[in-house]
Amino acid sequence: MTKFGQTDILLKVGDITKEEIDAIVNAANSGLMGGGGVDGAIHRAGGAEILEACQEIRQTQGTCPTGHAVITTAGKLPTKHVIHTVGPVWRGGKQNEDALLRSCYQISVQLATEAGDTSIAFPSISTGIYGFPIERAAPIALHAVYDAVVNGSSITEVRFVLFSDRDYEIYTHTLEQLLSDNQLP
Ligand code: APR
Repeated sequence: MTKFGQTDILLKVGDITKEEIDAIVNAANSGLMGGGGVDGAIHRAGGAEILEACQEIRQTQGTCPTGHAVITTAGKLPTKHVIHTVGPVWRGGKQNEDALLRSCYQISVQLATEAGDTSIAFPSISTGIYGFPIERAAPIALHAVYDAVVNGSSITEVRFVLFSDRDYEIYTHTLEQLLSDNQLP
């Protein structure tokens, strides 16, 4: 098991809605009203409670900007919270996509920490419908989580739940490369 500081890092293939963990992260859109991909899976599995919580957030604070996140109940899911983050749509790499993707991971860890969660699971944000190249997204995701937890975080476990063997291989290879190149100080 890889550790970033005192935090265990686990990569796995699976359906994030099945994870028994404190918080799962949803790759949402700014409207927060659900969608396809993992967003659709989470709303389907979690039930109407999640959408109701999102609607309340929409009414009180409006849409969620790209790179930001909101936290809600997990409804029927085996977790305490769902953190809905809005990843960047890939537009060729010159529209601040890397920084916005990084922000999704960092703000999600921050919201989970503030909620008292000690474990969090991420999908591969933005690499599906939003078209962000996964080979480029994986090191951003791993670096962002490393920076967020390495200096004494209350998050003791982070899981990256990939939806295909290919995605799992890319994240695994990326992590091995970052560790062997000492790019994660
Ligand atoms: N568990 C884990 N990962 C999943 C699951 C699942 N059940 N379903 C899909 N994924 C993976 C996809 O294979 C991809 O690797 O999640 C990653 C993110 O893909 P998307 O869900 O398409 O999210 P994203 O690329 O960030 O696009 C977000 O899609 O669903 C809409 O409302 C959403 O508009 C938003 C956009």
